Amino acid sequence: MQTFEQLSRQFALYFEQPHFPESPATLYGPNLYFLQMGGKRVRPVLCLMGNELFDEIGSNAWNAATAVELFHNFTLIHDDIMDKAPLRRGFQTVHTKYGESTAILGGDVMLVTAYAQINKITVSFLPQILQLFNTTAREVCEGQQLDMDFEKQEKVGLDAYLRMIELKTSVLLAASLKMGAILGGAGERNQNLIYEFGKKLGLAFQVQDDYLDAFGDPAKFGKQVGGDILANKKTFLLIHALETASASQLAQLKQLLQSNGPGKVEKVLQLFRDCKVDDWALALKNKFLDEALAHLDDIAVVSKRKEPLRELAQFLVQREY
Ligand code: IPE
Ligand code: IPE
Ligand code: MG
Ligand code: MG
Ligand code: MG
Repeated sequence: MQTFEQLSRQFALYFEQPHFPESPATLYGPNLYFLQMGGKRVRPVLCLMGNELFDEIGSNAWNAATAVELFHNFTLIHDDIMDKAPLRRGFQTVHTKYGESTAILGGDVMLVTAYAQINKITVSFLPQILQLFNTTAREVCEGQQLDMDFEKQEKVGLDAYLRMIELKTSVLLAASLKMGAILGGAGERNQNLIYEFGKKLGLAFQVQDDYLDAFGDPAKFGKQVGGDILANKKTFLLIHALETASASQLAQLKQLLQSNGPGKVEKVLQLFRDCKVDDWALALKNKFLDEALAHLDDIAVVSKRKEPLRELAQFLVQREY
């Protein structure tokens, strides 16, 4: 069994294959720019680990891993337009550097390229993988729309937030694992368990993402800190603050949400701190991590083989970038 470091190194090499033709460079250049920024490559590694849990890693799994990473990068390019994000992975976002139209088109062609990778999968597996991929892609779109809808809603409950992050984030982690498992010959019960593991892990992962967006170290995080606050994103931080604030804190918070004046980020962060969102973040992450690990435990494979997935899960909820 290979570790996250080993598999991400191997995937990085494999992923260096040319994904796009050279011309027109005005379309493909920005995509190469984006892919070369790196990223943690979490989803392809999950796919490979899901595969190795049941068999030696095979070419189908490499193709699926490549597809999910391309799909993920497509969602990021478009997400950065939706979120008006200037920075990603420590560099300028595609739309900031090359314009929105190119970022839209580049994302589109990246999605098509992901499908070309899926199309390389052995025909006996193809319908099942394609169906999972399509369902997941549609769900991510639904989650992204809810995320934007919530920006304009004054109040969003924790359950609605959790459903939104399940759609925009968790299902892709879960599907990456499940594709690997399917391609490794896992039975239906194990396929479902690894999917549920991924879904809970994805919730913890997005909770950490939201936490870092507010409290991350700008030198390590690679994205604009406070971006969610500026966009009035209904993250668990804001939801928790709105629920626990005193009357005067609540009035201040509501006023801040309606303004985009100077110092908004700092003032909201202070209110977050006063409402002890740190403790809440830790509690939420640990709850979802525990639930995830319980599903992993239930998979009918010797426990030792699950060690890389356990380690990766721990890393993902503690990461600083
Ligand atoms: C960012 O995902 C988008 C979310 C779903 C939170 P990652 O944190 O995996 O981004 P990269 O690929 O490592 O940059
Ligand atoms: C992104 O959520 C989810 C998808 C890209 C589908 P975020 O908007 O929180 O991701 P970041 O923080 O920009 O990476
Ligand atoms: Mg974003
Ligand atoms: Mg977003
Ligand atoms: Mg985020």
